[in-house]
Amino acid sequence: MEAYKPLSRSIAGHSAIITGAASGMGRATAHLFASEGAHVAVTDLNQSKCDAVVAEITAAGYPGSAVAYALDVMDEDAIKDVVTKVAQGFGGIDIVINNAGFSIHAVIEDDAYPDAWRTSIDGLMSAHTRMIRAAMPHLRQSDHPRIVNIASTEGLGATPGNSPYVAAKHGVIGLTRGMAVDLGRDGITVNCICPGPIRTGITARIPEEHKTIFAKRRVPLRRYGDPEEVAHMTLSLVLPAASYLNGAVIPVDGGMTIKNA
Ligand code: NAI
Repeated sequence: MEAYKPLSRSIAGHSAIITGAASGMGRATAHLFASEGAHVAVTDLNQSKCDAVVAEITAAGYPGSAVAYALDVMDEDAIKDVVTKVAQGFGGIDIVINNAGFSIHAVIEDDAYPDAWRTSIDGLMSAHTRMIRAAMPHLRQSDHPRIVNIASTEGLGATPGNSPYVAAKHGVIGLTRGMAVDLGRDGITVNCICPGPIRTGITARIPEEHKTIFAKRRVPLRRYGDPEEVAHMTLSLVLPAASYLNGAVIPVDGGMTIKNA
């Protein structure tokens, strides 16, 4: 019998760049990665909000380090610039987490629909490709290159009044699968998480009473999830030991998408 091969479950010393990391799941992921000893680039629209997350991480005394960069994922030049700076600062990039997002509700006959469509497709889907393109030269130098795209259960089905977001999130699953097939030969894994209803900035405006009614009706676990619960799945996907997981689409939704009645 062949000897058992232990695989590493440590990202200590690995470098990660996370978009939309000033809030919600991105922030939780930044905390978790730094607590595991990774070097984390906290990027989001607002510099002071990124600075605040870095200050939290530093105050927590984690073994990893964090740096803050203002970054709008709509802006290709800014992405190239920040990716270069992060790679120089950390000595490389091993992990890309495409997490930044927002939700614009619109139905097809609304005057605002064309703008909602353009913004959603660009910010929620095309942005992922911009980040990955910019990071590719650095991922190719990594021993454990990992890409995780945050889609949504809206990438697996549809809530009324949300078709631009639904289309963009279905697209994130498609680009994950397409790139997993393209990059797998070089050992770069590309996987995707579909969070269900999670307590973050995006869902903060939903009244608590509505959250409770929705969760009890739709989610087998009968509650919204916490951002940390998604961050732990993200961590699982970027471990060196996750070396044979590629092109996976993983719901983290309390069982919502498998419930029929
Ligand atoms: P959040 O609002 O707490 O965090 C999203 C972050 O993305 C914010 O800090 C925001 O400033 C940033 N962002 C927005 N536009 C950006 C841009 N153009 N460039 C850079 N950063 C930008 O919300 P949450 O929930 O943590 O969102 C993270 C991801 O999870 C998003 O992709 C969202 O679509 C997805 N998601 C969220 C669910 C939920 O129930 N909260 C469910 C399924 C998916």
